[in-house]
This record gives sequence, structure tokens and C-alpha cells, in this order.
Amino acid sequence: MSKVMVMDHPLIQHKIGLIRKKETGTKDFRETISEIAMMICYEATRHLELADVQIETPICSTTVKEIKGRKMAIVPILRAGLGMVDGALKMIPAAKIGHIGLYRDPETLKPVEYYCKLPADCAEREVFVVDPMLATGGSSVAAIRMLKEKGCKKIHFLCIIAAPEGVKAMQEAHPDVDVYIGALDEHLNEHGYIVPGLGDAGDRIFGTK
Ligand code: PRP
Ligand code: URA
Repeated sequence: MSKVMVMDHPLIQHKIGLIRKKETGTKDFRETISEIAMMICYEATRHLELADVQIETPICSTTVKEIKGRKMAIVPILRAGLGMVDGALKMIPAAKIGHIGLYRDPETLKPVEYYCKLPADCAEREVFVVDPMLATGGSSVAAIRMLKEKGCKKIHFLCIIAAPEGVKAMQEAHPDVDVYIGALDEHLNEHGYIVPGLGDAGDRIFGTK
């Protein structure tokens, strides 16, 4: 069974409090999403292996640590996942970026695919899928299925707010994928929105409502 890690860092919790407030405007919302993404990515990369490398300091030669094998990719689920890319890139700047376009049909809540462009060598990369919201889980489950169909094997999922329903769906569909969550909320409402949540993440990042 995969790991489900809910962040307990006080800075992450404080910043999630800021983006939940309905009066937080687009600029602050977007910047804070990016900062939270950076911190979740820091936690989600704890397992990366290190190698010893010999270097020269201005004083003497010594052995330092270097990340071993740097083939990584960040894959945002459009649109809202785009808001997490810059923050994640601050932690893993050499990562390639793929894009998966999915939107939730407002009636059925089922994901509808409209775009997929991934690094040519994505099957050899460790992939970090980012999307601020894990609600029913339909979008993230579908995105990860698409990645597996392209041959990706090492996949992690990073989100800012999750509902228990989405976590369950992810674990059932993809028990091999570790899930990193900023905050685990109570439930979904009758429209499939996370409660207490933060509203529509895409609209708040891009100012479209
Ligand atoms: C939101 C969010 C997730 C999805 C989560 O995207 O960013 O992708 O809903 O819901 P689910 O877990 O029930 O699938 P949305 O479909 O609103 O599209 P947008 O990012 O373009 O606004
Ligand atoms: N998508 C969002 O943007 N917010 C929710 O609460 C659920 C899905």
C-alpha cells in the first residue's frame, strides 16, 4: 500500500489557512499556492538517493553529497496544477515538465481529457504529479492512469487539499503511488466541492470568477 503523508509543518498549515479565506485575492492566492507547493515538494523528495562526490573547497578536497540520477518530471493537471509548477521547480529545477489537461464535468463530476504532452523519456523519469485539489479523485486517478499507459513507473502525487473520498479512490486505483497532502479536509458537498476547502482552485489562481 502507498504512503499517504499529511503535512504537519506549521508554515504549511499557516499558509493553507491564508488561501482558504474567501477574501484572499488572486495575487496572494497564486503566490501562496506556489510557496506551499515548494514546501510539499521538499517533503516529497525526502526519499531521493544521494551519491558521494569528491570536490575541492577553497581549503581542501572533501566528499560531498549529490542527488543520484536526476531524471525527474513535474506533471501539472491543467489548469489548477499549473499554479504548483513554479514552487515545485524551485526544489527540483532540472525537472522536465509534462502537461495533462483534464476538467471535471460539472454534472457527472467525471474527468474529461483534452490535452496530454509529456517529456519523450517520461517512462524513465520519476514523476511528480501536481494538482491543488483531490476531491472525488477522478482527475488524479485518470492522470496517473495516463502516465502509466506511457510507461511511467515511479509516480508521486502532490496536492494541497484533499477529501477522504479522493484519498480512498487514489489508494484503490493506484496503491503504488505515494500521496502528499497539505491538509486533509472533512468531506465533499453535493456539488463535489471539498468542505471546508477553498472553493474552485483554478478560478482563484487565474481570477476567472
Ligand atoms: C479541479 C482540480 C482538480 C479536480 C479535482 O479541476 O484542480 O483537477 O477539480 O476534482 P476531482 O478529484 O473530483 O476530479 P477542474 O476540473 O475544476 O478544472 P480546472 O483546474 O481547469 O479549473
Ligand atoms: N475542484 C476544486 O477546485 N475545488 C474543490 O473543492 C473540488 C474540486
